Amino acid sequence: MSDLLIRGRVLTFVREPEGIDDTGAYRYYEDGAVLVVNGKIGGVGSYSDIAKQAGERVQIADHRPNLVLPGFIDTHLHFPQTQAIASYGAQLLEWLNTYVFVEEQKFKEPQHAAFIAGRFMDELLSNGTTTAVAYCSVHPESVDAFFTAAEERNMLMIGGKVMMDRNAPDALRDTPMQGYEETKQLIGKWHGRGRAHYAISPRFAITSTPEQMEMGRALFAEHPDCYVQTHLSENKDEIAFATSLYPEAKDYTDIYARYGLLGRRTLLGHCIHMSDREISVLAETGAVGVFCPTSNLFLGSGLFDRDRFDKLGARHSVATDVGAGTSFSMLETMDEAYKVLHLQGQRLSPLRSFYMMTLGNARGLDLEHRIGSLHVGADADIVILDSRAKPAMQLRMQVASSLAEELFVLQTMGDDRCVAEVYVAGLPMKHRRSEPTQDRAARAAELA
Ligand code: GUN
Ligand code: ZN
Repeated sequence: MSDLLIRGRVLTFVREPEGIDDTGAYRYYEDGAVLVVNGKIGGVGSYSDIAKQAGERVQIADHRPNLVLPGFIDTHLHFPQTQAIASYGAQLLEWLNTYVFVEEQKFKEPQHAAFIAGRFMDELLSNGTTTAVAYCSVHPESVDAFFTAAEERNMLMIGGKVMMDRNAPDALRDTPMQGYEETKQLIGKWHGRGRAHYAISPRFAITSTPEQMEMGRALFAEHPDCYVQTHLSENKDEIAFATSLYPEAKDYTDIYARYGLLGRRTLLGHCIHMSDREISVLAETGAVGVFCPTSNLFLGSGLFDRDRFDKLGARHSVATDVGAGTSFSMLETMDEAYKVLHLQGQRLSPLRSFYMMTLGNARGLDLEHRIGSLHVGADADIVILDSRAKPAMQLRMQVASSLAEELFVLQTMGDDRCVAEVYVAGLPMKHRRSEPTQDRAARAAELA
């Protein structure tokens, strides 16, 4: 397979930006290039330097004047809720019971699970997202469908079967032992296969008995290199219900702490109504609070207090939370993040937004050596962004005078139309949807 030289305006972050003028936080090459060798990045820099390094036989993908960035990372969403987006009228618990617990029952059927998993991956790719952390349904079949679809596209994906043994319909409940055994079997089958990583996924304290939480503890202790994902403090009725089920816990966060579920690989969706004590526990354990702005607005859940997370030293990441989240687009997600923070008097600079979607989220997953930035040795997961994809954007861009302004236009006005191309391990995917090729299979083997 020949090497590939991706030419365009290359932008990649090296650390978290401190303000709108923090040019030291990123590298930007106006006429830049990324060299891809065997699915990995072999060089990043000015086109003239990298073209010399590449030699004559290299294939060139000229994306000028578009931007070349690391693929976006989405740290929390639900693949079985792909067709539950835009379900009307309810807040969290009513929404789960009315819509989600009905929809997720369909995923017992492997054909349905496979169909949605394929469409889900293609939707992520269309939006420039190359890695995501997803909940599957309670059915092991849904996990097989999820990782099979990811493997066909060679995407680095993280996911797991939800464990839930109470407060859900019969058809969606496992038992503590069944949840343990199915999870264990799925970890054995998928974790570390190609680019797949497993996330142990007790849905939330409301749908797991203490016996199931004990199984969660055992699974995490036995597989410390897996992730853990669950939900925390999203909605006031949820908090009252969860804490009533675990009266011995100091607060909602303490429920998960008591079962040994908090650590650097733990992703906690939402974390909206948190005391300082709870955020400090996340800081001490390294657990990550996941900010899901479109979901939090859609369900009327509340506003994520990023500045308090920063002040108390707790890690956080950002995510769509489809299907309570209303879009697969990380650009649209950052648009809403900006507004959620603005309502609280907090600022989100466009540099920081683009850092969060890429290197910031990679750091939240402890995967920054592989994804989230364009550096030699990283996986070649890359998004090409067109800041003039819509007429209104074209017009707005006529008066944009800086890179930061362009990024703000992209996040405020952009969506999947701005994703001109997306590369997964060096192969273009946006216009080659749903057709696994021999190339892709070979690349998967090389990266494994
Ligand atoms: N809490 C428990 N399950 C869910 C879910 O599927 N979506 C959201 N937004 N919150 C949850
Ligand atoms: Zn969620």
